[in-house]
Amino acid sequence: MLGLQVLSEDEIGDIVHRLAGEVSADLEGRTPVFIGVLKGCVYFLTDLTRHINKSMEIDFIQVSSYGASTTSSGSVVLVKDITVDVRDRDVYLVEDIVDTGTTLTDVVRLLEARHPRTVQIVSLLSKPSRRQVEVPITFLGIEIEDRFVVGYGLDYAENYRNLPAIYELQVENGPS
Ligand code: IMP
Repeated sequence: MLGLQVLSEDEIGDIVHRLAGEVSADLEGRTPVFIGVLKGCVYFLTDLTRHINKSMEIDFIQVSSYGASTTSSGSVVLVKDITVDVRDRDVYLVEDIVDTGTTLTDVVRLLEARHPRTVQIVSLLSKPSRRQVEVPITFLGIEIEDRFVVGYGLDYAENYRNLPAIYELQVENGPS
């Protein structure tokens, strides 16, 4: 059941706009590669990159994560790999939310094995109180408390992704 709204469409828009400005200012004339971590990144990556008026390449990676649970399995499996060659490239890894940090730690490790020039993380949301592995988020939208959220790409059992705003999800027996 949907609970309280955590971020409205307007609030998300403001955050994405600010992040796009920060990332734009960081670009150094080279053509970067934006890599979205599927599937939660879809709306964030599309809105973010549309506000960055520079040449870029876009690719996607998918790793398995939560399935139909609200707790992390603690390990990830590569489901879909990138097709762009990231060697010597500036990579911006675009993620919807950093929770325990497991997913991005593994994704960064996987990408660094391909010798990019830089890898920086752009995340819309972060739940710092849930962190098990430290993840350096260079560009962060906003920190939220330890609650399970859906909408704007974020799902619960593949539902709710298409909601334009972000809501707390109230799962029976409460998310752990
Ligand atoms: P981590 O590996 O624990 O950092 O989890 C990262 C992934 O878990 C994210 O990419 C999301 O797919 C999923 N996730 C974590 N918290 C939430 C949430 O509150 N709502 C929806 N998905 C979440």
